[in-house]
Amino acid sequence: MSSCCGRNWLPRPDRFRKTCQVCLPPSGGDMKIRIACFGAGYIAGRHLAALAALPGVEIVGVADVQVERAQLYADRFGGRPYADWRVLLAAERPDAVYVCVPPFAHGEPEQALIEQGTPFFVEKPLSTGPELPEQIGAQAAERNLLTSVGYHWRYLDTIERAHEIARQNPPRLALGYWLDFVPPPSWWLQRQASGGQMVEQTTHIFDLVRYLLGEPVRVFGAACRGGLQRFPEADIDAASATTLQFPNGAVGVIASACLLHYSHRIGLWLYAEHLVLECRELALTIESPQGNETFAPTADPYVLEDRAFVHALQTGDRSVIRVPYAEALRTHRLVMRAMASAEQGEPLYV
Ligand SMILES: NC(=O)c1ccc[n+]([C@@H]2O[C@H](COP(=O)([O-])OP(=O)(O)OC[C@H]3O[C@@H](n4cnc5c(N)ncnc54)[C@H](O)[C@@H]3O)[C@@H](O)[C@H]2O)c1
Repeated sequence: MSSCCGRNWLPRPDRFRKTCQVCLPPSGGDMKIRIACFGAGYIAGRHLAALAALPGVEIVGVADVQVERAQLYADRFGGRPYADWRVLLAAERPDAVYVCVPPFAHGEPEQALIEQGTPFFVEKPLSTGPELPEQIGAQAAERNLLTSVGYHWRYLDTIERAHEIARQNPPRLALGYWLDFVPPPSWWLQRQASGGQMVEQTTHIFDLVRYLLGEPVRVFGAACRGGLQRFPEADIDAASATTLQFPNGAVGVIASACLLHYSHRIGLWLYAEHLVLECRELALTIESPQGNETFAPTADPYVLEDRAFVHALQTGDRSVIRVPYAEALRTHRLVMRAMASAEQGEPLYV
């Protein structure tokens, strides 16, 4: 029989607890895991809430350059607040760390963790540019360190279902979208700080394309420079489009825009013979001659990715981690090629 992450679409909670590797409660016996978090913003709050609810997990520290944020989460989820993650690391010696800092702040934290041999979960994107993640990826691989990256769409059971269908009836056209408004963090509008929308948000869609269609061989990007007139401080692209070519002849287009006043369209539309798969975060719609069906995910993918990481820490079983650093690096490389192609104005092989 199938699992909640695969082919069982109406699982009872008790059943998927029994059958699903990812959804298993941490099962390393009573092994206690001491976890710390670098960064105390929006996404750190989601992870800390999920982690604090897991048996065997203790939050031992939260670090943020805005120490009042660290204080807030330490009060809520446990551990001590720190203004500097280096001080936290030396004082608490955690078993594992969540790196939830903005894109520009990657590098030093991961390198310190690798040096200490401390497993880490890091949020996407891996960085704003191409070089640093290559170095971190090589260093983590050399130490065979347990890592996980926050491409949480991969933990949606709806995406698992789309993957199975796409395997049987390969899509020939992919249309991906992240057409949205500018999100709240102040760092987001600066290319040097966020990398821009394609790096920061649409990376989820690039990751899905890789998972559902395979590795593209060629990209051709174009970007609308400027165009965010309501944000004079912005230097990111208001919109961009990337054409993709796959080895089996399939093609795709991934479009980004951050100039809207609402979240218009985020997801991936796949077209195969007599089949449309509409993959959005909260629903999968399948259109075929037999009719249309829509499925909602059966579990919160943020919680699932955290459970998977803790399960791997407690048991040593890494098979439950769907996007380790090396896999995320392949997605990051693809986004970097799309960015470079837009910059150079010519198609590039991947
Ligand atoms: N997987 C997802 O769906 C998802 C969703 C939201 C955010 N994210 C990612 O998470 C990251 C953070 O996003 P956010 O929305 O939480 O941003 P945020 O601005 O709300 O939080 C980031 C926090 O990091 C702190 N910080 C900055 N530099 C630091 C440093 N050197 N050491 C310690 N703390 C530091 C900031 O003060 C801030 O409190 C981004 O890369 C973003 O893309 C992922």
